[in-house]
Amino acid sequence: MSSVSKEQVIEALRTVKDPELGADLVRLNMIRDVRVDGGRVDVKVTLTTPACPLKSTIEDDVRAAVARIPGVKEVNVDFDSNVTTDSRIFQRLQLDVRNIIAVASGKGGVGKTTVAVNLAIALAQEGARVGILDADIYGPNVPLMLGLTNHRIRVDNGKMVPAEAYGIKAMSIGFLVQPDQALIWRGPMLHSAIRQLFTDVAWGSLDYIVVDMPPGTGDAQLSLAQLVPVTGGLIVTTPQEVAIMDARRGLIAFRQLQVPVLGIIENMSGDVFGVGGGEKAAKELGVPFLGRVPLDPDVRKGGDVGAPIVVVKPESPAAKALRELARVIAARVSVLSFQADPELRVI
Ligand SMILES: Nc1ncnc2c1ncn2[C@@H]1O[C@H](COP(=O)(O)OP(=O)(O)OP(=O)(O)O)[C@@H](O)[C@H]1O
Ligand SMILES: [Mg+2]
Repeated sequence: MSSVSKEQVIEALRTVKDPELGADLVRLNMIRDVRVDGGRVDVKVTLTTPACPLKSTIEDDVRAAVARIPGVKEVNVDFDSNVTTDSRIFQRLQLDVRNIIAVASGKGGVGKTTVAVNLAIALAQEGARVGILDADIYGPNVPLMLGLTNHRIRVDNGKMVPAEAYGIKAMSIGFLVQPDQALIWRGPMLHSAIRQLFTDVAWGSLDYIVVDMPPGTGDAQLSLAQLVPVTGGLIVTTPQEVAIMDARRGLIAFRQLQVPVLGIIENMSGDVFGVGGGEKAAKELGVPFLGRVPLDPDVRKGGDVGAPIVVVKPESPAAKALRELARVIAARVSVLSFQADPELRVI
């Protein structure tokens, strides 16, 4: 029997598409290595995010395609990842950060900070390098939710060193001022504070910075969009019918600021508030619906004591929903990069 060649394997891999990017793995340069040893084939695939929700689909498709080559008896598929890069971030800020994801809402108290913190940790749990930036200058809540209320920032080589918790880096104005200090920020001060949280911080190399926005669609959104290239924006909403109006406001603000919208998340889904407002809003507004997080008292309890649900109750339905959201969001970020740069090469 003729032996299997590497070229045959590569030809077979040209028939396997990344289901979301819609192009084949070879063209996307996602094949890092192919080894053939008699009837045994080892393929190494580089994904666009370690949090790829389609890993097992891609694995099955690669196996099936390679197994069809006559003479192949065994197929081994191995994965690593190289997160897609929004190159504007380095160009404009000289930050070695690949993507910036903003979490916003039309109205307050819908769970932005909760979603931002758990999303950041869930991405890190998948193996990504993640930071969270608390852009809520008026009411910084990230320190509380990460159990870092007593943390004070250290300066090293003229840059602020971000705090670390649960595998992520974190920066908040809350680390710089006393909690009872009243902060009255005028527009220009707010602008410069948000800028400094990006540029005066030793973020290091990161795959994602998740930005927790203050409620509403005011100055902070404007400043963020002017200061940094936001790879994608998320809108958090609640299931009630009236929430659609708020989601719409958040969406319009992103659009006016030319921030690509990743989609809508419905938080606090459940019996009390009902289910479905987020999905309805997404449909009406023509943006993707990314998923819902159930209303769960443990989410609130954990948030109040700095113990995020994805860490302390990882098997709860809320934690599972948040992890699934993290994967969906990571995949959508890859899709946005690909749409922005169809010549994208993964390696
Ligand atoms: N899925 C959930 N189940 C139960 N409680 C939740 C859930 N999500 C958030 N909460 C709680 O709701 C409250 C508001 O959440 P959070 O602070 O995250 O909202 P926010 O949109 O960031 O608010 P703000 O607009 O004030 O910044 C918090 O007490 C939080 O613990
Ligand atoms: Mg908040």
